[in-house]
Amino acid sequence: MISEKMVKALNDQVNAELYSAYLYSSMQAYFLSVNLEGCANWMSVQTKEEMTHADKIYKFINERNGRIELEAIAKPQKEWKNALDVFETAHKHEQYVTGRINSLMELAKGEKDYATESFLKWFIDEQVEEEANALKIVETLKMTKESAGSLIMLDHQLAKRDFSSEKD
Ligand SMILES: [Fe+2]
Ligand SMILES: [Fe+2]
Repeated sequence: MISEKMVKALNDQVNAELYSAYLYSSMQAYFLSVNLEGCANWMSVQTKEEMTHADKIYKFINERNGRIELEAIAKPQKEWKNALDVFETAHKHEQYVTGRINSLMELAKGEKDYATESFLKWFIDEQVEEEANALKIVETLKMTKESAGSLIMLDHQLAKRDFSSEKD
């Protein structure tokens, strides 16, 4: 039996994952506006990933016989100073999401809800990757100090990210 409190917390996480998708989609729009197509592609893949995260939790709530409840999704940030600023925002956002997943895990453990605990393990591991992926790009951008040539090279590299090849 899943508690009402756990269902509410999982519903809140569906919203947080959908907000993440919205935020990355806004970052994609920013990159399209400054003609960094590869960076925009990376964000497009990231948006799709976040939607699969929301869907995983959505399905789990239903499997446990909980009621899915969708809330409004907040308006995401629209403008950034440059590519580094965008990826720093992405990295900070992933750190925030990790904190949320950790809180969910604490709640499941406290309630001795072993099924939810087991389900959340995938997200704990996923967040390690999510933070690392964003941080790697932040570090690269810091190293290149926004030189145009390096930015174009990075953009070419990020153009290769493919959603179908990295689905869980
Ligand atoms: Fe996510
Ligand atoms: Fe994420």
